[in-house]
Amino acid sequence: MRKIREGIYWIGAVDWDRRLFDSLIPLPDGTSYNAYLIRGSAKTALVDTVDPTMSDVLLRQLEDVPQIDYIIAHHAEQDHSGTLPYVLDIYEDATVICTPKAKPMLVDLLQIDPERITTVADGETLSLGDRTLSFIHTPWVHWPETMSTYLPEERILFSCDWFGSHLATSDLYVTDEGRVYEAAKRYYAEIMMPFRRIIQNNLAKLQGRPIEIIAPSHGPLYDRPDLILEAYRDWTSEKPKNLAVVPYISMHGSTRAMVEHLVAALTARGVSVQQFDLSVTDIGKLAIALVDAATIVIGTPTVHVGPHPAVFYAAHLANMLRPKLKYAAIIGSYGWSSKAIDQIAALIPDLKVELLEPVLVRGYPTEDELAALDRLADAIAAKHAGL
Ligand code: FEO
Repeated sequence: MRKIREGIYWIGAVDWDRRLFDSLIPLPDGTSYNAYLIRGSAKTALVDTVDPTMSDVLLRQLEDVPQIDYIIAHHAEQDHSGTLPYVLDIYEDATVICTPKAKPMLVDLLQIDPERITTVADGETLSLGDRTLSFIHTPWVHWPETMSTYLPEERILFSCDWFGSHLATSDLYVTDEGRVYEAAKRYYAEIMMPFRRIIQNNLAKLQGRPIEIIAPSHGPLYDRPDLILEAYRDWTSEKPKNLAVVPYISMHGSTRAMVEHLVAALTARGVSVQQFDLSVTDIGKLAIALVDAATIVIGTPTVHVGPHPAVFYAAHLANMLRPKLKYAAIIGSYGWSSKAIDQIAALIPDLKVELLEPVLVRGYPTEDELAALDRLADAIAAKHAGL
């Protein structure tokens, strides 16, 4: 238990060794599951719980807490709700507080008795005596049922996944801003980027609520909230940056030669580039780059007339994350025939991008084909100049 303010404590669990979330998302720096205890003069609230794999860590910290009246369940995903059934068994009079959308999810996912759940409307408040919980519905950070809680007397925002970072650390508050910025951007990219416009609305709901501390459910707390608030305003803005992202894979070097030529040509034209070899890259790094990029250039060899399977995966992921890309191009090589262009284009319907002229070559690129890559670089630089 770590004190934040008088009667307000962090009582979470730090998961130093976890390396994968949702069997999908790499966690190079581990994570934490942050729960909080708020003692008011009349009532006590627990804000979220922890992943069920670490329930013992939370329950140990609750041994000296005789009474919990409310459990605020911001989000039904199990890394925050998974220990809820155990806590409800111990505190038999406790009531779960959540959004109307969260209630059936908690019942379905965790088989919680619906009689023990009370739903709250957007803007509703709950008094703990000398402290007030003010609930803000903040959908899609990360599921449709998510909400945040504002504590006006202390100017603390408990935001659950929103503003969080997968980062295991012994620091209660952010100390290394650069490290946390990168981890928080990775987190935003992987789970919230598809809902950019809804998050803009959620940010608007914070207007008029002065915030001194943001207490998310993963990673350290922000005692300088402008760091993450400014970052979210930037990440969710509509305008992409002068950045081209080039995920590619190569089997015998032809596609690699094309990518290297294009990246050099783009760089010479003043376009920032991030190049990702999909055979070795951390897919989270690609997701981070997609937060800002204006253009994606996908490079693939041809395997049995189609794109390499790693390219299918990356293209599907980019389509799913729906970044603010404006332009896309496909380059690559083949041995005898290829349907790679059409197949990749069919994988990215949700990107809403303008497809630029592809460059597909048979075998190793000739001088004429490298000149076609130069023309592609010209086209991208011209598009970026108009951003
Ligand atoms: Fe940290 Fe969406 O759960």
